[in-house]
Amino acid sequence: MTVLLLPLAIILCVITEIALAGITRHYHFDIKLQNVTRLCHTKSIVTVNGQFPGPRIVAREGDQLLIKVVNHVQNNMSIHWHGIRQIQTGWADGPAYVTQCPIQTGQSYVYNYTIVGQRGTLFWHAHISWLRSTVYGPLIILPKHSVPYPFAKPYKDAPWVLADTFKLKVKHGKAYLLRLINAALDEELFFSIANHMLTVVEADAVYVKPFETSTIVIAPGQTTNLSHLSVPANVPQKVDREFFFTIGLGTSSCKHNQTCQGPNGTMFATSVNNISFAMPTTALLQAHFLGQSHGIYTPDFPVSPLTQFNYTGTPPNNTMVGNGTKLMVLPFNTSVELIMQDTSILGAESHPLHLHGFNFFVVGQGFGNFDPNKDPANLNLVDPVERNTVGVPADGWVAIRFLADNPGVWFMHCHLEIHTSWGLKMAWVVLDGKLPNQKLLPPPADLPKC
Ligand SMILES: *[C@@H]1O[C@H](CO)[C@@H](O)[C@H](O)[C@H]1NC(C)=O
Ligand SMILES: *[C@@H]1O[C@H](CO)[C@@H](O)[C@H](O)[C@H]1NC(C)=O
Ligand SMILES: *[C@@H]1O[C@H](CO)[C@@H](O)[C@H](O)[C@H]1NC(C)=O
Ligand SMILES: *[C@@H]1O[C@H](CO)[C@@H](O)[C@H](O)[C@H]1NC(C)=O
Ligand SMILES: *[C@@H]1O[C@H](CO)[C@@H](O)[C@H](O)[C@H]1NC(C)=O
Ligand SMILES: *[C@@H]1O[C@H](CO)[C@@H](O)[C@H](O)[C@H]1NC(C)=O
Ligand SMILES: *[C@@H]1O[C@H](CO)[C@@H](O)[C@H](O)[C@H]1NC(C)=O
Ligand SMILES: *[C@@H]1O[C@H](CO)[C@@H](O)[C@H](O)[C@H]1NC(C)=O
Ligand SMILES: *[C@@H]1O[C@H](CO)[C@@H](O)[C@H](O)[C@H]1NC(C)=O
Ligand SMILES: *[C@@H]1O[C@H](CO)[C@@H](O)[C@H](O)[C@H]1NC(C)=O
Ligand SMILES: *[C@@H]1O[C@H](CO)[C@@H](O)[C@H](O)[C@H]1NC(C)=O
Repeated sequence: MTVLLLPLAIILCVITEIALAGITRHYHFDIKLQNVTRLCHTKSIVTVNGQFPGPRIVAREGDQLLIKVVNHVQNNMSIHWHGIRQIQTGWADGPAYVTQCPIQTGQSYVYNYTIVGQRGTLFWHAHISWLRSTVYGPLIILPKHSVPYPFAKPYKDAPWVLADTFKLKVKHGKAYLLRLINAALDEELFFSIANHMLTVVEADAVYVKPFETSTIVIAPGQTTNLSHLSVPANVPQKVDREFFFTIGLGTSSCKHNQTCQGPNGTMFATSVNNISFAMPTTALLQAHFLGQSHGIYTPDFPVSPLTQFNYTGTPPNNTMVGNGTKLMVLPFNTSVELIMQDTSILGAESHPLHLHGFNFFVVGQGFGNFDPNKDPANLNLVDPVERNTVGVPADGWVAIRFLADNPGVWFMHCHLEIHTSWGLKMAWVVLDGKLPNQKLLPPPADLPKC
């Protein structure tokens, strides 16, 4: 008996090791038109594999994903894996003209990345013009084999994309795991279930200290999985670089022969530190990697606004914004504190800011102007929530911290599509570290060209 059991035990060990190392999962995305009928109207939309919403990607922590995207439509395409950290693999992040040129008609590109240290509910979506309104789907990361959830096992796991009507048959007294995603372009969504409390257990693929609530708000781009526990927060305690960014609306001059909707015949604009981001015509990551930034971007994004004013008080008379393709450069492993302050220019609004390549800790927020004398003492450096998207409150501020330990070019933008298109975006360049595992890998051979 013992003789028989021994080899079996060894085989089991080997299998467990393979499982923990992760496997490679292949997906094929055909970008094609599909006729869909909604409210008696049939229209042709851009889809993945003819599905709307698109196919579900399911992987385990530690797995490698190879997703081949083939573009059969006239539109340019690129896909972003929202919330995936893309450690050393910035080439697979997806925002068009930031980490890659678009996949043009008839071309294909294989997104190649490994899921490291994340588990939970994320989503993928097109990251070019407005195509994410139809090109999106869930991205579910299960824990490694034999690693349990850090909360009571739910009776049922019910994956689901928000923004559609929701039906779930439930049994009395059972716990259900709901995965909530706001894939909407421009709306914050409120979610509640009549006469039931919800326990939030995860947000943006990070387990959270569970808390009970009757309603949750999910800004566009945010994902939440509900049901039960926690992992200690690794908040940077010392800060190497501090930044203060104003976020808000403004105007720019209307182009000749155009009619513009802004005040006094101007064009609406949005900005970060009064700079409306001008999209380049070639990918920033490639320009950075090849050392050819000249004429494409400048590394002079301001640390704080050049003009100070009462950000949430009476706005300046001049609402014009500046523009440029300005980036902020950080040495590898810089620990960053960033205060984002909404402005009242043309009306205060809340802005869900999404950072690519990192999770950050939301260490503080408040209404009115951030007070550099009083507010730093009240930051939560013990158990703040860890996210990839945070709402900058209307007429208020939010403070985040992150460790810039992922080399590459990382986009940061409002996840309201209209605000992004008006210029509420910027990018960080994180330089390589000294060690091989601290460097951006070379670009894949099939990286699309502009
Ligand atoms: C969509 O419908 C139009 C009009 O009926 C038809 O010409 C077209 O081939 C359809 N497209 C697809 C992808 O089914
Ligand atoms: C995926 O990327 C890794 C490097 O991260 C590389 O070694 C591997 O060859 C790539 N696989 C494919 C199929 O391109
Ligand atoms: C989110 O869903 C994933 C998939 O079931 C699950 O592994 C993870 O535990 C969930 N997160 C939470 C906090 O439930
Ligand atoms: C503006 O429109 C007029 C009339 O349509 C045209 O003649 C002119 O060339 C246009 N100017 C520019 C700068 O596009
Ligand atoms: C509207 O535009 C005109 C001409 O550019 C300018 O003189 C005026 O001050 C503007 N008014 C407002 C309210 O911005
Ligand atoms: C800024 O404006 C707000 C709202 O009008 C006002 O309450 C506050 O006192 C102003 N702050 C300063 C420093 O003037
Ligand atoms: C703004 O415009 C108002 C009305 O035109 C004027 O009274 C005020 O002095 C201006 N403020 C500044 C700072 O120029
Ligand atoms: C923003 O920049 C524009 C263009 O340089 C300038 O006219 C405007 O005064 C600036 N506004 C603020 C609030 O700094
Ligand atoms: C960008 O700023 C320049 C001045 O620096 C201005 O001439 C140009 O019109 C602006 N472009 C846009 C799109 O606002
Ligand atoms: C990065 O910085 C943190 C502290 O800010 C430090 O604990 C860590 O060891 C550093 N990592 C590397 C790879 O230098
Ligand atoms: C598609 O992308 C290429 C490369 O950037 C660009 O030259 C072309 O104008 C784009 N086509 C469309 C329809 O936007």
